[in-house]
Amino acid sequence: MISNQRVAVVTGSSSGIGLETSLTLARNGFLTYATMRNLNKSENIISLAETEKLPLKTLQLDVVDDRSVENAIRSIRAESSRIDVLVNNAGYTVNGAFEEHAMEEIKAQFETNLFGLIRVTQAVLPIMRRQKSGIIVNISSAVGRFGYPGGSVYVSTKFAVEGLSESISYELEPFGIKVVLIEPGVIRTNIVNSMVTAKKSQDPNSPYSQLMQKVVRSLERMMENGSSADVVAKAVLEAVTTENPSLRYLAGKDIESWMEAKRSMSDEEFYKMMKENLK
Ligand SMILES: NC(=O)c1ccc[n+]([C@@H]2O[C@H](COP(=O)([O-])OP(=O)(O)OC[C@H]3O[C@@H](n4cnc5c(N)ncnc54)[C@H](OP(=O)(O)O)[C@@H]3O)[C@@H](O)[C@H]2O)c1
Repeated sequence: MISNQRVAVVTGSSSGIGLETSLTLARNGFLTYATMRNLNKSENIISLAETEKLPLKTLQLDVVDDRSVENAIRSIRAESSRIDVLVNNAGYTVNGAFEEHAMEEIKAQFETNLFGLIRVTQAVLPIMRRQKSGIIVNISSAVGRFGYPGGSVYVSTKFAVEGLSESISYELEPFGIKVVLIEPGVIRTNIVNSMVTAKKSQDPNSPYSQLMQKVVRSLERMMENGSSADVVAKAVLEAVTTENPSLRYLAGKDIESWMEAKRSMSDEEFYKMMKENLK
């Protein structure tokens, strides 16, 4: 039997934005594949889905693993025959002075945040192209549009996601496939606990030590006032249920003013403001 139910796939659904987005999509009628690399973390989402009788299934998908991605997408296609929404959410942050990052730390960050997104998107695109419809939602960041000290590697991955998304939107439009960037501000999730700090930047004798400490204190302050993950989930829902979605959606209470500053200030003024924020 062919169902009209729209099918959504979300990566990194074990916590934070991915978990909230999977639940929100399922609550709004999408048959949702809440994928995660470690299914041992699926208890919470499964129990919520059972209690609320949501159309939600969990599935193993590690974005850095070719075979895991292939298997997951193949089994979704076999079971549901279509994928209408892909939310590329899986990611983490590395922090540290650029000079002190080991190449392995940099490559690992790109492997998840950029190549992981590419791997999953390339696996899903043939399905969307054949069905002549679909929407790819890439969870970028406010820092997909401006840099900050200590964030050079993470920020680079998000700038890359922005450039990639903007470029493929031209290629995919003729096939009825839309591309959306979600740019969250500071959101209270597990991202702080999973943050990786460059080994050399942890050394108190590092020449960047003072600056890095300021950055971490400022990130912690911002996190305390961060928005909850449901504001991002709502932005995703809006994007995937609107007939003509915008390329970019901001999400989070602080983000509008940051973007306004970025739009209205010269690079020099913005730089000065960022430095003030780090005091
Ligand atoms: N929180 C913020 O302030 C903020 C702001 C802007 C953008 N973002 C972006 O939002 C996205 C989600 O982050 P979050 O804040 O919700 O953090 P989070 O709570 O730490 O969630 C990150 C998710 O990504 C998963 N993940 C990491 N590596 C993976 C891999 N190789 N394969 C599959 N899943 C993987 C994690 O799985 P495990 O549980 O197994 O680690 C987890 O489910 C990220 O792309 C992040 O850059 C966050």
